[in-house]
Amino acid sequence: MKRILFVASEALPFAASGGLGDVIGSLPAAMRESDPDCDVRVIMPLYDTISDGYRSKMKKLFDTRISLAWREQYCGLFSIVENGVTFYFVDNEYYFRRGRLYGEYDDGERFAFFCKAAVDLLPLIGFFPDIVHAHDWQAALTVIYLKRMYGWKAGYSGIKTVFTIHNIQYQGVFGMNILGDVFGIPESQRKIVEFSGDINLMKGAIICADAVTTVSPTYAKEILSPQYSHGLHSVLELYKGKLSGILNGIDRVYYNPSRDRELPANYSYRAPAGKKICKDTLLEMLGLPVRDGVPLLAMISRLVSHKGMDIVREAAYDIVGGDVQLVVLGKGDAEYERFFGELAERFPAKVRTLIKYDKSLSKRIYAAADIFIMPSLSEPCGLAQMIASRYGAVPVVRETGGLYDSIRDYGWPGGGNGFTFAPYSGRELCRAVERATALYSDSERWNALVGKVMRYDFSWKKSAKLYIQMYERLNTPNEQS
Ligand code: GLC
Repeated sequence: MKRILFVASEALPFAASGGLGDVIGSLPAAMRESDPDCDVRVIMPLYDTISDGYRSKMKKLFDTRISLAWREQYCGLFSIVENGVTFYFVDNEYYFRRGRLYGEYDDGERFAFFCKAAVDLLPLIGFFPDIVHAHDWQAALTVIYLKRMYGWKAGYSGIKTVFTIHNIQYQGVFGMNILGDVFGIPESQRKIVEFSGDINLMKGAIICADAVTTVSPTYAKEILSPQYSHGLHSVLELYKGKLSGILNGIDRVYYNPSRDRELPANYSYRAPAGKKICKDTLLEMLGLPVRDGVPLLAMISRLVSHKGMDIVREAAYDIVGGDVQLVVLGKGDAEYERFFGELAERFPAKVRTLIKYDKSLSKRIYAAADIFIMPSLSEPCGLAQMIASRYGAVPVVRETGGLYDSIRDYGWPGGGNGFTFAPYSGRELCRAVERATALYSDSERWNALVGKVMRYDFSWKKSAKLYIQMYERLNTPNEQS
């Protein structure tokens, strides 16, 4: 039996703010399916935003006290089994009753407490994993604690660690003054986390982990260059021998247009008629005219610059100048929210902008859309292009990171599964959209492409195997460092 513990700050269906939640909510079950000998469990904070429905199903296992530097505080542990996977929830209302996941003045302390608990609770749970797999900076301290402060303790010494970077932009950077006082890291270990005079938790985890992964092979290469690394390229260059990229997948049960109860009609590539009902229903709901033969473009994204909003802004008037309709769903930086709000005001019969994060509405938009626009400046993996494909919205993407690894251009030898462009410019984006809309008017070819896109396998199958193989390599004695 291989025992794996995921440490992460979010997981669907309990709490999520982005793609990380999707991954932690679906990868463990996929691993188990791929290898029933894999006991994968997940530990995350018990946020107050987790619904009462799930809370009432949780079992309280025990409570204890956890120390973090000079503090010693209550810590409860709850659990729930979802899709055959055990999820543990670390309870402390002072830290996790904030009405939101992140963005608090004391995020460093909140997630340090979570990481310390994840490590200290193992003997109480009676689960010493072979592998601790930590995700993003919020979980980075588990790797640092395990490798630098727990190695000599019974039960802990054999644990291997994997650290996955879901987005290198968020590194967990804090002032050096809280090294001992909050994180409880001794002065002797200062060098591990020190970067440009600050504490950088991601850097510490990169150095300490037995393996470092990111969420696509192309992003694993990109982050070695200053253009993409947000400063960490020189650190990654030193440790690139243990760095690899494994492409994310999506949960094909949760994202399934032929079963999805949130849609006004169901459909599949074999019986596609329901997609038109989804489109007409959404247009009506948004107060946009239902016009046959006019493609509906969609964007579902955080409205921030690395998602490509600057080139969307450059290209928007040209794109909307064509005979198209556009719906934008997302929130983010005020300047982009304002821009898309104004665009909708200027083109009331063509454009709708919805400034919010709404999972259910997003599925209805994927189902309604003909073309999905995702022109990211950088994209570690990206799940939206995969979800859009599953719902029959043909992706238009920029060739970067996971977008490059998942979408090939229509003109690719043997045919592709979308439309792609490389140079980061509004003009190139506009051209790619025009190529897509031109094909849309040839309904026979378009329908064939939609069918192909919907059938494309973006499941976890291949990648779950790759993770398991990596765990096996780490546990093979001659590979041990
Ligand atoms: C982050 C990345 C996104 C990736 C997701 C899950 O949100 O920005 O590209 O798909 O993590 O790994």
